[in-house]
Amino acid sequence: MTLLHTESSLYQSNDATAKLASVDLSRAGQAATDFVEISDVTLSYGGDEGVTAVEDLTMSVRKGEFAAVVGPSGCGKSTLMKLTTGLVIPQTGRIAVDGTAVKGPLDIVGMAFQNPSLLPWRRTLDNIMLPLEIVSPHAQRLRKHKAEYVARAEAMLDLVGLGGFGSKYPWQLSGGMQQRANLCRALIHEPGLLMLDEPFGALDAFTREELWGVIRDLHQRKKFTVVLVTHDLREAVYLADRVFVMSARPGRVVLEREIGFERPRPIDLTYTSEFNDIVHELREKIAEARADTPPIG
Ligand SMILES: Nc1ncnc2c1ncn2[C@@H]1O[C@H](COP(=O)(O)OP(=O)(O)O)[C@@H](O)[C@H]1O
Ligand SMILES: [Mg+2]
Repeated sequence: MTLLHTESSLYQSNDATAKLASVDLSRAGQAATDFVEISDVTLSYGGDEGVTAVEDLTMSVRKGEFAAVVGPSGCGKSTLMKLTTGLVIPQTGRIAVDGTAVKGPLDIVGMAFQNPSLLPWRRTLDNIMLPLEIVSPHAQRLRKHKAEYVARAEAMLDLVGLGGFGSKYPWQLSGGMQQRANLCRALIHEPGLLMLDEPFGALDAFTREELWGVIRDLHQRKKFTVVLVTHDLREAVYLADRVFVMSARPGRVVLEREIGFERPRPIDLTYTSEFNDIVHELREKIAEARADTPPIG
């Protein structure tokens, strides 16, 4: 109860921060350049005889854009994330991030998944600083500039409403707080691209909405590019500038929907009829895609 209450009041302070944010992320202010480009990509696991996860997949995400990807289970959404970050390499097609072809794991990316996977023996602050020990140029600078990096990690914690919790161990935090810390860890090295694979899927509805506010505010302030995979259509429409709907496996994009609601978006937006019309439109498209699902095997 106490933790839930804490999170609720933190959310309100985040809302206040959002109102103070001076960054203008209106569409007109965004560069029209594509930050992520995926062209005619096909990937089969286990070679040509194996499972074709995505086929002729083409999509691009503009710099600074918040993109969401939705689609039936098993359609290749996580594969899309792995392809974009260079964790798997496609058999055919081209993937580029920030103008450079992806040939292996990228370090300009921050990632967060459904399971926060914080290391239980490290305090929250030390968990958040983990990427700094790995990613250049921070890894080389960390020892000499420790105080500067600790200040940066503490500022990130403040930003997501976890100020003062850095000395706690992950198991002392609620699920929602762990996911806030997970977002901090994904962003501590200031990546240009944030990849989120169903990051809020395991949270209760109330906590999930609080986390929407957190990621909304982080995006508004830090101006990174986001690709969010989610099965929650409300989440996609609330957060994204554009939603991509994927077909059943082998996955490809069957609908691209611009979401024009102005920012910052209040949570009440999700109760308007305009909002629900878009959710319904996407839901119908997914139902069509699911109907095409091939039998397992
Ligand atoms: N490492 C793997 N080896 C073999 N098949 C895989 C592997 N990863 C995913 N697949 C298969 O590829 C398809 C797409 O998986 P995935 O990208 O995880 O889908 P989604 O995230 O949309 O649920 C599924 O049929 C899945 O079983
Ligand atoms: Mg997945």
